[in-house]
Amino acid sequence: MSTTSRGVFITFEGLDGTGKTTQMRRLAERLRAVGRDVFESAEPGGTPIGQQIRRILLDHRNHELCATAEMLLMFAARAQNVDQWILPALAAGKIVLSDRFTDSTLAYQGVARGLGADVVLDVDRIACRGLVPDLTVCLDIDPVAGLARAHSRNREQSGVETRLDEQDLEFYRRVREGYRQIASDEPGRVKLVDGSGTVEEIEGAVWECVRGAVGLE
Ligand code: TYD
Repeated sequence: MSTTSRGVFITFEGLDGTGKTTQMRRLAERLRAVGRDVFESAEPGGTPIGQQIRRILLDHRNHELCATAEMLLMFAARAQNVDQWILPALAAGKIVLSDRFTDSTLAYQGVARGLGADVVLDVDRIACRGLVPDLTVCLDIDPVAGLARAHSRNREQSGVETRLDEQDLEFYRRVREGYRQIASDEPGRVKLVDGSGTVEEIEGAVWECVRGAVGLE
């Protein structure tokens, strides 16, 4: 739990194509409708500096980027986000929603790329300075379904597929296992939500996880 703030920090996690961005937006609307002050963020990216880092990370020409450099760039963007946006919003009592955070780095770089959780958590201590989400909603789907959605979305949006989305199915299976491991290690913080239902079904399940954390029971 974050002890440094008055607000509530909630992160959304899951494979590419799980629909977590849609779900986070719906949750933000729902919380605002009941009068809560919500700040939305996304990683990699977030702040203007983070957006510049994101462009390096997703540029398909950067196929030589090694796993350690990739991880450090993720945390560079995150450190800026924590400092510039997230901590001030929490200090102001807001509910902060983040589309991805350190659990993404644990699952993608730590597990799937094989850097190990210890390395990732060492850098997390420097970059995030003890900030841990109060609640993490992890949307769980079969990698085949997620990849199909992520690929068609990328083609529609840009006509090209991003570097990270070109990873093979085996990579995404490892990412999913990484997420499941985190959820079983930290059942109090991380809630796995079945992402195979309709948008409305998932929205209902997300709300069940969240409402207690924001004092709306
Ligand atoms: P993005 O287009 O934001 O994907 P999504 O909408 O699925 O979140 O691209 C982010 C990609 O970066 C995605 O494949 C997950 C990956 N990623 C990591 O590998 N490590 C990280 O720490 C983060 C934040 C993202």
